[in-house]
Amino acid sequence: MLPQELIRLKRDNQPLPAAEIKAFVQSIADDRISDAQIGAFTMAVFLNGMSREEVVALTTATRDSGHVMQWDSLNLPGPIVDKHSTGGVGDLVSLVLGPWVAACGAFVPMISGRGLGHTGGTLDKLESIPGYDPYPEPDRFRDVVKTTGVAIIGQTGNLAPADKRIYGVRDVTATVESIPLITASILGKKLASGLDALVMDVKVGSGAFMPTPEKSRELAKSIANVATQAGTPTTALLTDMSQPLAPCAGNAVEIVETLALLRGERSNSRVMQVTRELAVEMLMAGKLVANREEALTKLEKALTSGAAAEVFARMVSELGGPADFMERSDHYLATAPVIQPVYAEQTGDVRKIVQRIDTRAVGMSVVELGGGRLRNDASVDHSVGFSDIVEIGEHVDSQRPIAMVHAKSEDAAALAAAQLRAAFTLGDAPATADTLLQDTFRGEA
Ligand code: URA
Repeated sequence: MLPQELIRLKRDNQPLPAAEIKAFVQSIADDRISDAQIGAFTMAVFLNGMSREEVVALTTATRDSGHVMQWDSLNLPGPIVDKHSTGGVGDLVSLVLGPWVAACGAFVPMISGRGLGHTGGTLDKLESIPGYDPYPEPDRFRDVVKTTGVAIIGQTGNLAPADKRIYGVRDVTATVESIPLITASILGKKLASGLDALVMDVKVGSGAFMPTPEKSRELAKSIANVATQAGTPTTALLTDMSQPLAPCAGNAVEIVETLALLRGERSNSRVMQVTRELAVEMLMAGKLVANREEALTKLEKALTSGAAAEVFARMVSELGGPADFMERSDHYLATAPVIQPVYAEQTGDVRKIVQRIDTRAVGMSVVELGGGRLRNDASVDHSVGFSDIVEIGEHVDSQRPIAMVHAKSEDAAALAAAQLRAAFTLGDAPATADTLLQDTFRGEA
């Protein structure tokens, strides 16, 4: 079928045959379809939606448009599992989760991204570690997954190349916010890692990628069902992002927190609760445990024995970082020249309680400090960000700051402090945070 015929069918709200979607997507990867045609197609999908079968076809076609990893020849003694998140602020989950489930017998080939908009990127955080190479040769990547159990790296050239073009066109044609297109884009890339099972963390709240709780829910359901129908059993959790997940946001500051969590400190913090829930799902989906209780026991043991921390340390050194990073992280991580407290304005001796946080604004402030990118090709300052961020329901006063700001200059610190104050709504009434784990969607085949 000619591309314009497929576009016409979707424009007229007619069903698209799976084989035609496949051919269209392959032609995109092969550069035989113009950006104008991609734009017309994505707008038609944006306006008319897609059936479940169509999204599955778009997803598998995107996955198959480039290299799909195969792990069978390695005869790994455990399942290949991974997690993906729609992204957030202070969301260092991947850094703890990957090594943690690997220490429980799973194999995690995790392809991560850089910061996007207000959300932090796992790769930027890992690059705070001197020498860490997020772009190893494919054979090296496989080797690290085999020997260490986990490797967190960046996306390389030939994984789901069709998505690269489609996403680029969506970005400039007002067609990003479409659940079928987001589903196929995320899963097309993720499923190209040849997974046995996937767990998805869909955020909801003021720092979430999706604009409303209803849309987050719809996306979670769509991803769980489409991935499962595409052959990769998937569970999606809906988790709270109405405040930074960890009490820090930035790059090196999140690595510092990661190390503390892997050492078993703050095991009941919000970020660890979410990480634990995702880990339980990964161990169950990978059939490493029979039930939730068994998963919790296994996870606890991997944390308290130091096994999870050891896996993280090994991954870092295998990918070029220092062999003694866990022991001497202070020596290796960049620290900002200005580190100072951000107090709420005019509280004097009066205690105020944190009512709400504009999490997106906190993330944007980190970007402005230099911890994220304003332009694609810009470099990132790993040393900047916020630490010791108070949570909703906690109090601040003249002794207790909202957070510590880490900045490259006094001026940058002052600007970030003003932005942080504006992002926090304080009041006198007691306040409680939203429920952390809001829902679980298990994919239906
Ligand atoms: N992330 C992706 O990879 N694709 C989308 O469409 C949205 C977020």
